[in-house]
Amino acid sequence: MRAIANVLGEDEAAFLVRQRVARLATSDRMGKPHAVPVCFALARASIFIALDEKPKDVPVTRLKRVRNILENPDVALIVDRYDEDWNLLAFVMVRGRAELLDPDTEEQAAAVRLLRGKYHQYEAMRIEENPIIAIRPERAASWGALDEPESFGPRVLDPIHGRRSVRRYLQKTVPKDLLERVLEAARWAPSPHGRQPWRFAVLTKEATKERLARAMGEEWRANLEMDGQSVKIVEKRLEGSRRRLLDAPVLVLICLYLEDLDAYPDEERQRGETTMAVQSLGAAAQNALLTAYDSGLDAGWMCAPLFCPERVAEALGLDPNLVPHALLTLGYADGDPPKRRSRKALDELVVYRD
Ligand SMILES: Cc1cc2nc3c(=O)[nH]c(=O)nc-3n(C[C@H](O)[C@H](O)[C@H](O)COP(=O)(O)O)c2cc1C
Repeated sequence: MRAIANVLGEDEAAFLVRQRVARLATSDRMGKPHAVPVCFALARASIFIALDEKPKDVPVTRLKRVRNILENPDVALIVDRYDEDWNLLAFVMVRGRAELLDPDTEEQAAAVRLLRGKYHQYEAMRIEENPIIAIRPERAASWGALDEPESFGPRVLDPIHGRRSVRRYLQKTVPKDLLERVLEAARWAPSPHGRQPWRFAVLTKEATKERLARAMGEEWRANLEMDGQSVKIVEKRLEGSRRRLLDAPVLVLICLYLEDLDAYPDEERQRGETTMAVQSLGAAAQNALLTAYDSGLDAGWMCAPLFCPERVAEALGLDPNLVPHALLTLGYADGDPPKRRSRKALDELVVYRD
């Protein structure tokens, strides 16, 4: 078995690592060609491809690509990048021999781990129960701008630039799958030691939102009165906040959960640990906001729970280990979402110390 490095150049291997989809070409014993798009992972000496069809629907041995490989192990895999900017076009073609790795072999298990590492979707699929296709590369050819970075920019920046804080919502239900998409994005936020020190309480019922509004309102009333605000202003602001909570079809309360974090004997490091958890909570919130926007929803952020966490936890009957922090409102904007707030110029925010 030849190491990939002896077959593929460094730039070709790097290109393969970055790409998500390839086309696998096989042929039967008569030389009749067949090609399918596949997900793949590159290892030191092989390229692995999972067979993810449910065995009950189609036994994997009946798949055309599998039958072809059994009849004729010579295959070609092509990995390409298309872009409207033709300066970015590129492809790598790998030729080699394919074999099937049986379940319960060490190499098959390693291939499954590698594929799951690259594609999280495989975590929920029983690909370990099927053989894995292993291509042992023998030759490679490539063309184009292999070294150009992938143009993820516009796709990531679109929701970053498009999102706005929304504070008035239509009485329109948020579909459950969209809500779950938003929560899923939050789940994938970076976190200290990967411990995910946050939990999400989802509120949709009028009565629950009302309880929350009342609990936070009492605290806010006391604070506004302490600030010397007039009764009229206090009432107006409280009613505005209450309406905002009740009108939003979904509220997601993001709570800090510190139980899984490292414990230190000194206060300073413990404080650092908590700060990291709060930073990560912000990342989870931002993932949620961006995904809400990307899913056609509107969203807003309310800080109120941070100022009365115990009251909020009590009103919602939360586990005492959950510390309410940020409240996200979700729904569909009533009217045009507000204009984009301006931002400071980058040179006010960045210092370069080369
Ligand atoms: C930690 C944090 C707390 C916030 N709390 C509130 C809040 O209590 N009420 C509110 O209307 N907006 C709140 N916001 C939203 C900001 O006001 C808003 O993000 C900012 O004005 C920029 O506007 P944009 O989100 O539309 O770009 C909060 C934002 C953050 C990051």
